[in-house]
Amino acid sequence: MSSRIIPVQPFDYVVFGATGDLTKRKLIPALYHRFLDGQFDEQSRVIGVSRSKLSDADFQQAARDAVTQFVEKQYQEKDVVDRFVKLFSYIVNDVTDEAGWGDIRKALRDDPKVVRAFYLAVAPDLFEPIAEQLSKTKVYRRDARVVIEKPLGHDLESSKEINDGVAKIFEEDQVYRIDHYLGKETVQNLLALRFANMLFEPIWNSAHIDHVQLTVAESVGAGTRGYYDESGALRDMIQNHMLQLLCLVAMEPPASDDANALRDEKLKVLRALKPIVNGDVARNTVRGQYRGVKSETTSVASYQDELPENKKGSRTETFVALKAEIENWRWAGVPFYLRTGKRMAERVSEICIQFKPIPHSVFDHAEGAPKANKLIIRLQPNEGVKLMMMIKDPGPGGMRLREVPLNLSFAETFAERTPEAYERLLMDVIRGSQTLFMRRDELEAAWAWVDPIRDAWERSSEPPQTYTAGTWGPSGAIALIERDGRTWYEGTDQ
Ligand code: BG6
Repeated sequence: MSSRIIPVQPFDYVVFGATGDLTKRKLIPALYHRFLDGQFDEQSRVIGVSRSKLSDADFQQAARDAVTQFVEKQYQEKDVVDRFVKLFSYIVNDVTDEAGWGDIRKALRDDPKVVRAFYLAVAPDLFEPIAEQLSKTKVYRRDARVVIEKPLGHDLESSKEINDGVAKIFEEDQVYRIDHYLGKETVQNLLALRFANMLFEPIWNSAHIDHVQLTVAESVGAGTRGYYDESGALRDMIQNHMLQLLCLVAMEPPASDDANALRDEKLKVLRALKPIVNGDVARNTVRGQYRGVKSETTSVASYQDELPENKKGSRTETFVALKAEIENWRWAGVPFYLRTGKRMAERVSEICIQFKPIPHSVFDHAEGAPKANKLIIRLQPNEGVKLMMMIKDPGPGGMRLREVPLNLSFAETFAERTPEAYERLLMDVIRGSQTLFMRRDELEAAWAWVDPIRDAWERSSEPPQTYTAGTWGPSGAIALIERDGRTWYEGTDQ
């Protein structure tokens, strides 16, 4: 089946923080691809807003540079790029500068058919002042949309403040909270896998599933990103991306793909997560920080070495492993093991559903014992789905049982390129579809679960365990799962 591009209505996308990294690396390349594919055309506009004194021509050049730098060469078509950058204009504006707001007002079209969206690619403390100015200067419209993204707070309280600030002007149905993991094709595919097949849903429960593993490992380091040291892996990855993945694996089938139907089900999972508090924090969580490697062939700095002088000695975790439990009928007794970290052995995100062993083996005389089935959903790279099954090894020589993968590689099956998460999400904002965005109550439920873990770590005198850069994390993470008689899936059964 070939992809179908459904054109969106013309839009005015106002991007605050237009000169920042996110705009350059993610937003412009994503918009370019959608333009290249014909999802929108010259009737749409992108209005960059920032404090830097740039002209329209400078901003158009910045858009061109972003395409050159961040879009694969094969998709860079000169005439398309020329037409694309013409959609860009720029307004110099500081939140407090009244003149700039007047310019924004003038740049926008009043036609109700032109969707108005504000992308706040700025620090969260500017969300509320920007929202207020949008209202004061009559740039706000009831059908306008506002896009915000993490860090949406550093704990429940601060996240409530951010949400309250935005909610002074925008209704919840106008707010698009990005968790870019939800825009990843393979993450959406989880929904298809679970709810467009008869096969899995009847056995998707504690009667048939032993446990679930979620791994988001990165090979890159973290120390040079200023923000990271304030955040750490728990806030940066677990509170948002990984809990969202957990929700999609664990939620009940929603009645429809309506945004709230889906988000209601995710929320129920978040609220059913057993709190990890007090003594359980030491038992069920492990935090780590990478140390460097120096050998004749490699030299990788430790997290500490990457930090500026005034941050040395930081106890920020660059790795987290934890055991989560969901207290409901479907999942009681099925642990969800989560782990994520920087400078790990490889870049891989995957979900491993480990089924229970068969109840009784009829193969008394077979060579090789039946292994329990595993379903591995590979989110990145090499996206795909793999079902590990037992078969008879072909040929004579009696019954020899062997584990083989039933392997669906997306790259081999589908010729088309896999769109980046932001492509889907930016267009969903224009379409008015909130399905792949976090609702306020979800975000807050996630913080409420994560906060006690963070608090206990802060109270503890134990520093994070260290792990060597380029490995799968500290030994405590291995112990966490092995204590339960299980092991981390590391793709070794190809
Ligand atoms: C971001 C985190 O949200 O997600 C980064 O802030 C992390 O620390 C990134 O590297 C991972 O995203 P992806 O799409 O590369 O898996």
